[in-house]
Amino acid sequence: MTASISEYVPVQSGRSDDVRPVAGAAVQASVMSGIPRIKVNNHETFFYQYEFSLLDALEAQNIAAPYSCRGGYCGCCRARLLDGEVEYVQDSLVDLADDEILTCCCVPRTHIEVELPE
Ligand code: FES
Repeated sequence: MTASISEYVPVQSGRSDDVRPVAGAAVQASVMSGIPRIKVNNHETFFYQYEFSLLDALEAQNIAAPYSCRGGYCGCCRARLLDGEVEYVQDSLVDLADDEILTCCCVPRTHIEVELPE
């Protein structure tokens, strides 16, 4: 099912092209069913809007996420992946533990839950 344009409104992200569904629960659930949901530090949850990286998705939600190089070199954006799967969109030179990801290098493939350093 495809939502009509009237089911979307601009949000307060500062980007004029940033729109998200605001329809009723049934329509919203059907629209969102295939879009990965991102849960952060066990309290913030939002839907992935197909930004370039998970880091970009976090920033679009005004969630403070550490970063430096944005290119997979420094490891500053290291986070723990508590649940779900990610897909890497750029290579990394950082050694990671099995449960760690680089938010600048990946996007969610499924619903995910991540833990950012506080
Ligand atoms: S910001 Fe440097 S590896 Fe992600």
